[in-house]
Amino acid sequence: MILTPKQIVAELDTYIIGQDDAKRKVAIALRNRWRRQQLGEDLRDEVAPKNIIMIGPTGVGKTEIARRLSKLADAPFIKVEASKFTEVGYVGRDCESMIRELTEVAVGMIREEKEREVQAKARENAEARLLDILLPPSPRQGGPRGYRPGDPEAGDEGPAPQVVESPDAEARTREIIRKKLERGELDEREVDVEVREQGSQSMMQVFSNTGLEEMGFNFQDMLGKLMPQRKQTRRTTVAEARRLLEQEEVQNLIDMEAVTRAAIERTENAGIVFLDEIDKISGRGGGQAGPDVSREGVQRDILPIVEGSTVTTKHGPVRTDHILFIAAGAFHMSSVSDLIPELQGRFPIRVELESLGAADFHRILREPKNSLVKQYKGMLETEGVALHFTDDAVEAIAGFCEKVNNETENIGARRLHTIMENLLEDISFEAPDRRGEELTIDAAEVERRLSGLLEDQELSKYIL
Ligand SMILES: Nc1ncnc2c1ncn2[C@@H]1O[C@H](COP(=O)(O)OP(=O)(O)OP(=O)(O)O)[C@@H](O)[C@H]1O
Ligand SMILES: [Mg+2]
Repeated sequence: MILTPKQIVAELDTYIIGQDDAKRKVAIALRNRWRRQQLGEDLRDEVAPKNIIMIGPTGVGKTEIARRLSKLADAPFIKVEASKFTEVGYVGRDCESMIRELTEVAVGMIREEKEREVQAKARENAEARLLDILLPPSPRQGGPRGYRPGDPEAGDEGPAPQVVESPDAEARTREIIRKKLERGELDEREVDVEVREQGSQSMMQVFSNTGLEEMGFNFQDMLGKLMPQRKQTRRTTVAEARRLLEQEEVQNLIDMEAVTRAAIERTENAGIVFLDEIDKISGRGGGQAGPDVSREGVQRDILPIVEGSTVTTKHGPVRTDHILFIAAGAFHMSSVSDLIPELQGRFPIRVELESLGAADFHRILREPKNSLVKQYKGMLETEGVALHFTDDAVEAIAGFCEKVNNETENIGARRLHTIMENLLEDISFEAPDRRGEELTIDAAEVERRLSGLLEDQELSKYIL
């Protein structure tokens, strides 16, 4: 389902407090992916993605927006840390690997979609094969299930005696067994199934990950085609056999070449790369020549990818012209203007995230689906302890958070984690002994537990 910008913002609102400007801008960018694809071919090629750069202090929700967006974007999406990349030729990940990873995500997505499409058919086929195993078709009939290579009478102590029944009777027995199978009545029985060997594949996976992939070389497929498909007979329960056969049937029904083609198409037209920590590769910051040169090198390597080029992946060449890039960085030590100008130019949309205050912290503690208050309540509930926070307690925590951020270092909402952990340390420690109790935290309790820490500047620096 393609969400409208309003729906996207509403979704983000359930996890992230404030930062409305950033939410709107990413929502529009996301929707624009869809709009572009509705255009006629001539115009579609002209519309370049409006890449975004999000700037804001640490701990205000930049990465959180990316994480939530990735779940909403019905598109291949990856989040990468720019600081992880190194220039080509240095040890580390080269920048093009982000596109390879994105393509991999797309392949996974499309394969899953196709799997869902063929699931019913695969189940049907698996059921038929299972039925053949339990009740081998009589050799006289021979025909329709010819794909069973083994001798039908080999070692299967099926429920039906191996007498040649009349076709009618056989069909009836088959029907009875089929019903039993469907109802799961035979799930516990043991059977021998012949399935494709799994081991050899993962072996090849190890091979192909050792760097050959970097060359866009599909080693695994090549080997896979060279090596004969090995079959393996395993004794398992009917339930497990059904699962194995179903898996195999799914693989049989999916045309991997079509999947790859669709995946590349989707990567090129709908792909989104979230480049986090982009400030970490911006120039001048440090001053020393060494790391700076390499950082600028990373920017130069990223540039063609953002600008539009073709990256070789093991699934084939991928053009990056229409991939959307969203970058984010705190830019404490540097500013966007420290990025090389060409790269700046490729991020036409700038959005500043606001630093957070007590009122925001109050809402962050309460409102998001995964808020800290809800998390701690849930965790203690597993110990049979009911934890409550009064409103003024939450307000007091938020106040403390702002205060500590002002007096020491502003680490945004991350501060809430340390404060909550300190506040609830004793309760967390003793919870197993307090099963059945109901604990209420009020403002006085917050004050009592935290004020001591706050008084001592040095202490609060290290603890909170
Ligand atoms: N606006 C917000 N609403 C709800 N939770 C938030 C908000 N901002 C931050 N948080 C919480 O604070 C934590 C840190 O936020 P996040 O990782 O997004 O910081 P960031 O902006 O990426 O900082 P950095 O520049 O250090 O990477 C997360 O656990 C997140 O849930
Ligand atoms: Mg971050």
